[in-house]
Amino acid sequence: MNPRPQGFAGRIVRWQKLHGRNSLPWQGTRDPYRVWLSEIMLQQTQVATVLDYYPRFLGRFPDVRALAAAGEDDVLGLWSGLGYYSRARNLHRCAQAVVRDHGGEFPRSAQALQALPGIGRSTAAAIASFCFGERVAILDGNVKRVLTRVLGFGADLQVAANEKALWEEAQAMLPLRSVQEAMPGYTQGLMDLGATVCLSRSPNCLICPVHDLCSAQAQGRPEDYPVKKRKLKRSAQALWMLLARDARGAVWLEKRPVPGIWAGLHCLPSFGSRAALEETLPAGAATHLQEGEPFVHVLTHKDLHLHPVALKLPSGASPSGGGEWFAADRWPQLGLPAPVRRLLEN
Ligand code: ADE
Repeated sequence: MNPRPQGFAGRIVRWQKLHGRNSLPWQGTRDPYRVWLSEIMLQQTQVATVLDYYPRFLGRFPDVRALAAAGEDDVLGLWSGLGYYSRARNLHRCAQAVVRDHGGEFPRSAQALQALPGIGRSTAAAIASFCFGERVAILDGNVKRVLTRVLGFGADLQVAANEKALWEEAQAMLPLRSVQEAMPGYTQGLMDLGATVCLSRSPNCLICPVHDLCSAQAQGRPEDYPVKKRKLKRSAQALWMLLARDARGAVWLEKRPVPGIWAGLHCLPSFGSRAALEETLPAGAATHLQEGEPFVHVLTHKDLHLHPVALKLPSGASPSGGGEWFAADRWPQLGLPAPVRRLLEN
């Protein structure tokens, strides 16, 4: 690895002002509720999608007290379609902790923010630097790419000790002067550089403000960074999903247990085999099942092979188990896994 480059932070701050993203709806505010909400939404979701959800969510829950007072199903319903629903459950728990333990005010340091549900080290640092000008490093996926390239940091980031070393580098590269004013622009600048210039497969080194400081650029191999050796082990699972409708078009949905996939969301009853699904049906109903087209739904660690089977039930009959009928004007508001929403809408 090369020595830390001189003048890095200042260049990032200047570049961000001129070429970074400066008019996103969660910028131009130091309100930690708004910044926190945007950072959680942006964790695994593209800016374009968040631009749609963020104002709707704020419209419904304009401050942390409104969110803390909401029912979990309302929060999951508004989150529906953003995926990674543990984020929404933690968001709700975090709002409740801020109201209960901090008098409704977010704590003002990254260290205290990190103790709240769903706020990891990098998110805590983003909030503290944006809202309070704290001199503290972020290190999300984009920023790891920028910093490993600039530094020529070739150690495997899947090894915890190497990731820890990169955190230390990130901290050492922060602005040293006018910290309070510089930190928000520096933090945003690293994010923006990673998202718009220092791209994973085809980095635009020619327009990069730090290309002459960048080790990977000098080596001619920016795409080789970051180094991550161990691959995620993926698995596959088959699920038979029962799409039962009653005579009035209501659908039968069960709330998923916590923990587990789709925890807390409403879902079609799902089984590891077709036989297990048939066991939950009223006598004679199995002969009326209609097979839908199977499809694959990809989760982070797992491919789900989904086999929908539809069934019309006469009034008074229900599948067994802890579900409920939801009329056509009610289920669209529920928090539903994306493939279930797709099945119900078709
Ligand atoms: N991704 C994570 N945080 C972000 C932010 N503040 N602006 C744009 N993209 C982001």
